[in-house]
Amino acid sequence: MCGIVGYIGQNNAIPVVIEGLQRLEYRGYDSCGIALLNVTGINLEKVTGKVNKLQGALAQQQTSSPVAIGHTRWATHGPPTVDNAHPHVSQDGKVALVHNGIIENYKILRDELENSGYEFSSDTDTEVVVALISQAYHGNLESAVREALSHVIGAYGLAIIHADEPEKIVCTRKGAPLIMAVGENEYFVASDVAAILKYSKDVIYLDNEEIGVLTPDGIKTYSSDENQIAKKIHKITFNLEEVEKGGFEHFMLKEIFSQPQTIHDAMRGRLLPEEGNAHLGGLNHMIGSILHADQRYFTACGTSWHAALIGEMMFEQFARLPSEVEYASEFRYREPLVDTKSIVFAISQSGETADTLAAIQEAKNRDATVLGICNVVGSSIARETEAGVYIHAGPEIGVASTKAFTSQVTVLSLLTLKLARLMGMSDADGLEIAQAMQRLPEDVEWLLKQADQIAEIAKLYADASNFLYLGRGVNFPVALEGALKLKEISYIHAEGYPAAEMKHGPIALIDRSMPIVAIAPQDKTYDKIISNIEEVKARHGRVIALATQGDTRIKDVADHVLYVPPALSFTAPILNVIPLQLLSYYIAVERGCNVDQPRNLAKSVTVE
Ligand code: AGP
Repeated sequence: MCGIVGYIGQNNAIPVVIEGLQRLEYRGYDSCGIALLNVTGINLEKVTGKVNKLQGALAQQQTSSPVAIGHTRWATHGPPTVDNAHPHVSQDGKVALVHNGIIENYKILRDELENSGYEFSSDTDTEVVVALISQAYHGNLESAVREALSHVIGAYGLAIIHADEPEKIVCTRKGAPLIMAVGENEYFVASDVAAILKYSKDVIYLDNEEIGVLTPDGIKTYSSDENQIAKKIHKITFNLEEVEKGGFEHFMLKEIFSQPQTIHDAMRGRLLPEEGNAHLGGLNHMIGSILHADQRYFTACGTSWHAALIGEMMFEQFARLPSEVEYASEFRYREPLVDTKSIVFAISQSGETADTLAAIQEAKNRDATVLGICNVVGSSIARETEAGVYIHAGPEIGVASTKAFTSQVTVLSLLTLKLARLMGMSDADGLEIAQAMQRLPEDVEWLLKQADQIAEIAKLYADASNFLYLGRGVNFPVALEGALKLKEISYIHAEGYPAAEMKHGPIALIDRSMPIVAIAPQDKTYDKIISNIEEVKARHGRVIALATQGDTRIKDVADHVLYVPPALSFTAPILNVIPLQLLSYYIAVERGCNVDQPRNLAKSVTVE
């Protein structure tokens, strides 16, 4: 949830770390700080608010340093104050560290340390780690870190410096992301590749409990049992432009508009339109296990959970394979009925979501086979799962997920097609579906051309306090996703419902002040949804309908109609979500909200 950047090398570390923090602000943005290290010791600067403020404070100091660690925070323990901002420094002023994660036993450790006379200066869980390292230090920082962490229970990504070893950064991780990168006589540590991409594409992924030691001479990595280990250097394949706005006002808008390309990328080399089939290299050897499993589970959080719901419906409808979906946060605690004959799909954009990682662990403990559907290459979930598929959406910086959702659903559609063909779907049906999928990028292009119309509608509804989203079948998760997008970035309360459920309760809320978004494609439930819309109109509700291009009847009942190209239920969710993403975006902009960094949220939730 927080962002970490560290630099050691021949240049001034400050601009590198500041720029890195700016690129990581989407991960947490309530306060930030930097610790500089040189022969005179540690120099600390912390502020509440954004990295620009920190940059201003440093500019006044006119200082420089070849070593620095920085942090941008999303508060968990203690409010966003300067004292609680990272880096945290030990009582003797010699150890400084930045931390991402949660120290679960911090209260016990803090009591023990206070009883022994240690004085804390923040409310954070992190500060106990600084204190422990300080106490364990006898001339070698990595040994002190190892000793200190043997007392710690929890999740961490850490970068640490010590005033007595001014040419060293030590870093380690457990359950929170952290990478190291190799430049030209300079070395980096970061919680996210985006932070250092400008300087290096050569990345080393640290595994849990490994310790990295960065000096001006290079990087050494040690296993938890202190042995030096050789780590592979991975080449990052995406470019700096992908983590920049590229002329768009917000990352979210850029990401919405990139979907023709990202959907295409998710299908590239996988969709077989001539055969009416799909090929997923990463799962090829698992297809038999998926088909013959006793249970198939999808587990995920938030937007990825909505994609999972669509996956479940498609598996059942088209491949006739019974499946279940469970929130990752619930999966772990409800003693799931999974065993060696179960397949669990973990879906995650970031690949770092703590709840999803915990669900994976639970499934593994019960001997299930866990497969990943993930965006971030080399992420924890990608590494913790037995096999899987990357969605290839590229870096998603906007906190509200958009392009990752459509890419997740694209991959789930490909997988469904593959399984359905093996389960007896006819050539004709396979061909029809594969060709509809092939048209998706161009259909999405068409939808994006409606952006101005959607922006006009958004102006009429930006002052609403509540919204209701209705959809049926595969469009019910789309309604949930539309509502989540609106909540996240505009702070308007919104709920998604299966359309027919409206009359079982939510109808009581309907009046002129509560807009309804009804997803009403011309499918088998069309007449029923039209009736639902009429029920809304009879109660003076205002309706924005998503309808199939060419549908003229709907104009008589809805206040506004957003047209969507004709779609199969296979491809409908991907198309229908696009206008809803745009509607949320333009409403949030109209309300003056910070679209890319909405309040209280962070891009990847690395705490349970
Ligand atoms: C989406 O807009 C959200 N910010 C959030 O619900 C997100 O989808 C969820 O936290 C799961 O993240 P993941 O896909 O990275 O695991």
